[in-house]
Amino acid sequence: MSPSQKLIKNGTLINENQIFQADLLIEGKRIKKIAASIHCDADIPIFDAKGKYIIPGLIDDQVHFREPGLTHKACIETESKAALAGGITSFLEMPNTSPQTTTRVEWEAKNERASKTAYANYAFMFGGTNDNLEEIRALDIQRVPALKLFLGSSTGNMLVDNPEVLKSIFSSTPLVIAVHCEDEETIKTNLKATIAQYGDQIPISEHPKIRNEEACYLSSSQAIALAKETGARLHVFHISTAKELALFENNLPLEEKQITAEVCIHHLWFSDADYEEKGTHIKWNPAIKTQEDREALWEGLNSDLLDVLATDHAPHTLEEKNQIYTKAPSGGPLVQHALPALLSAYHQGKIRLEKIVQKACHNPALLFDIKDRGFLREGYFADLVVLDIEKEFEVVKEDLLYHCGWSPFEGITFKGCVEQTLLNGQWVYLNGKVHPNSAAMALTFDR
Ligand code: DOR
Repeated sequence: MSPSQKLIKNGTLINENQIFQADLLIEGKRIKKIAASIHCDADIPIFDAKGKYIIPGLIDDQVHFREPGLTHKACIETESKAALAGGITSFLEMPNTSPQTTTRVEWEAKNERASKTAYANYAFMFGGTNDNLEEIRALDIQRVPALKLFLGSSTGNMLVDNPEVLKSIFSSTPLVIAVHCEDEETIKTNLKATIAQYGDQIPISEHPKIRNEEACYLSSSQAIALAKETGARLHVFHISTAKELALFENNLPLEEKQITAEVCIHHLWFSDADYEEKGTHIKWNPAIKTQEDREALWEGLNSDLLDVLATDHAPHTLEEKNQIYTKAPSGGPLVQHALPALLSAYHQGKIRLEKIVQKACHNPALLFDIKDRGFLREGYFADLVVLDIEKEFEVVKEDLLYHCGWSPFEGITFKGCVEQTLLNGQWVYLNGKVHPNSAAMALTFDR
């Protein structure tokens, strides 16, 4: 027997649009065998997963872990541990840190840092700006997962608003271009009018009227038009409105799409009816919109207009979030409970389990060409999550692993719980605890 083998027996696997009973033999970092019944030497450690579901580890294509420079909000170690507790085994992190990840030197430094501190598998998007085209052209596409552009301002001052630069970027990178779309002029005009009305006492309920549907639609449609003109491979982040869905197509398999879209858990869970109770804790860019928008997003996800489920995990401290509207930053921590929220949505009849796995595990791997992850397949890395989908639990402060110590889901009871997480063949989360030794690896790409 190889000392590095382990056997997971009697679980119900959800994978590639199927739900079936099977055993999994893990050897070293990878899945060695998947079969109805696997018999092994008596001395191989066996985990009995009877009554549990097993899915591939989630790949979150949009997180902000704040390191370097903003570590009073979060850091790679704390947030990647929270990710493991939430069944997220790999993450793509955003460039709006301080300094920004907009030079190859900063990008290498972030990787170096993560190699020492990450607890989940990692890769870092490279940020485009109005003046770093030469850096973008020189990127190693075997190592960089994608380019991130802020086409609307948000945390970190990374707006790219020079049309000529944008066209040059779209024309000159083979990488996926992931975009934050909100039209800056529309937002500025709306904000000015709202300040004229309320002074500095703007109610949070005005947020989706300032960062409104029109701002999203205008910016998304311009980005899509530019991608069509230049042939760029575009991925539009965090779609928040029903209107934008008309910009996407569902008649092609993901691998053949030139333009894809992501939806985030907060836009699927909350609506403008929640602003009264949650206040600035659910202030996000793009804003949480109406209940009709939310229902349309679920439909768009189920009908494959939307391709990827993610979090846009973006922690800020409670002190920062509790300020008045104009000062409270947008964003909130999500990685620990995105999957339980999705499992609860399954129980509410909003989505099938197979669809959750397709959008949160398979599709990010396909979209970013992530090597040997995102599926339960022989030869692939053994990143998987054991779920008790019937177990109910309330989100309470004491259980939060985020550095910022709060969650927009506090007080909510979810049905569906992450029991154990296996990363690169090792149990890294069990009995409510993250293992102190990291098993994380840098993601690699099959391009
Ligand atoms: O709400 C948001 N917060 N949206 C973003 O695009 C950025 C993020 C952050 O970094 O705080």
